[in-house]
Amino acid sequence: MNNRHISFSPPDISELEIAEVCEALRSGWITTGPRTKLLERRLAAYIETGKTDIDCEAAENVQKYSNRVVCLNSATAAEELNLRLFGITSGDEVLVPAYTYSASASAAIHCGATVKFIDIQKDGDPVTHMPEMDYDKLEDAITEKTKAIVTVDLGGIVCDYERVFEIVERKRSLFKPLESDGTSLGDLSSRIQKAIGRVTVVADCAHSLGASRVFRGEKKYCGAIADFTDFSFHAVKNFTTAEGGASTWLPIAGIDNAEIYHMYQLLSLHGQDKDALAKTKIGSWEYDIIGPWFKCNMTDIMAAIGLRQLDRYLGLLKRREDMMRRYDAVCDELGISHMVHHTSYMDSSNHLYLIRVPEITVEQRNKIIEKMAEKGVATNVHYKPLPMMTAYGGDCSAFPNTYNYYHNLVTLPLHTKLSDEDIDYVCNALKNVIKEVC
Ligand SMILES: Cc1ncc(COP(=O)(O)O)c(C=O)c1O
Repeated sequence: MNNRHISFSPPDISELEIAEVCEALRSGWITTGPRTKLLERRLAAYIETGKTDIDCEAAENVQKYSNRVVCLNSATAAEELNLRLFGITSGDEVLVPAYTYSASASAAIHCGATVKFIDIQKDGDPVTHMPEMDYDKLEDAITEKTKAIVTVDLGGIVCDYERVFEIVERKRSLFKPLESDGTSLGDLSSRIQKAIGRVTVVADCAHSLGASRVFRGEKKYCGAIADFTDFSFHAVKNFTTAEGGASTWLPIAGIDNAEIYHMYQLLSLHGQDKDALAKTKIGSWEYDIIGPWFKCNMTDIMAAIGLRQLDRYLGLLKRREDMMRRYDAVCDELGISHMVHHTSYMDSSNHLYLIRVPEITVEQRNKIIEKMAEKGVATNVHYKPLPMMTAYGGDCSAFPNTYNYYHNLVTLPLHTKLSDEDIDYVCNALKNVIKEVC
């Protein structure tokens, strides 16, 4: 068979997205505006219901789904804003799994906090094999300085949030809420910390838009489980706006969502109390800057891509699931451990397909990647553990389960541009390469 060229995860952009982007460009409004606001409402509706066809331009839904999701330019910005809104600052500790991408940890560092890494469970979660934190170690790591836990739904598989919430509830007495410093942000953060009254759970759902899990007896979609959530719409993600991301949060007792939403707008637009759209109103030129903050808003061109992606999203998720089931069958035949994306209590967003080949060395793993590439199949490794990275100390010895999980891991290509024949080709290439290398 001739070599095919199987890329790792190109974006799936149809003529629908292209046409909507052209409409946005022609509309005269290309930065944050009506398309971004509509995408925010549609995402809020999707997170609440799992449905992508709710009419969020209808008056009752404009009312219902406004002020619940904030679209931004990345998940990194979204996580950072989530942490800043909660008031994370220097002196605080944020607990992050050692097995994740840099953004999960760097956002907390940008806020001035200290990141403490938590090793994962040996070989990951016993059912899904997702590299989830060791929850006993997580509980032991909580001190009076701990303000947030970042959970990561790696590959689209939803963490055991019930367990995480039990832990933070048990540690409630250690939590010391921030006192207001008299600024509008400091005052809001203080009220949020007092209302939540415990370590906050900040979900890194960069991979898991549309994933769901039974939580306290009810099926909940990511975004409706943790206190704060961020999503990524980067080009390699299931759902893309080229670059992009979003923040959302659970309602907080005694604080209006509109107030929280407004603070996200300020944090993402220079602390300017009027956005460009508001300034176009007659006589409304004057504005104030209430904090020297960031610039990480989503543009309407990006939102245009997102609106049409969302129309297609349920179909894209289904196609990814079908492809995964074919990978499952081959991995089971070869005795290769793989992530389990669907269980009786959880449906993943089918983002990444991680496999671990038993009894091999790092060198053999790298050889597998090289030989797959020679056959035209791009693979990857998600992830080289953060403690191994220069910026995070370059030493993984304190995280043996994390290192062990990574050393024999390969991520197979998975995207909706692959045909059934392409998947068969990847499966055959894998079978042959495993025979050669192992
Ligand atoms: C687990 C995880 N968190 C966060 C991010 C950051 O996403 P973004 O590029 O949208 O900032 C990524 C990006 O790949 C990721 O994999």
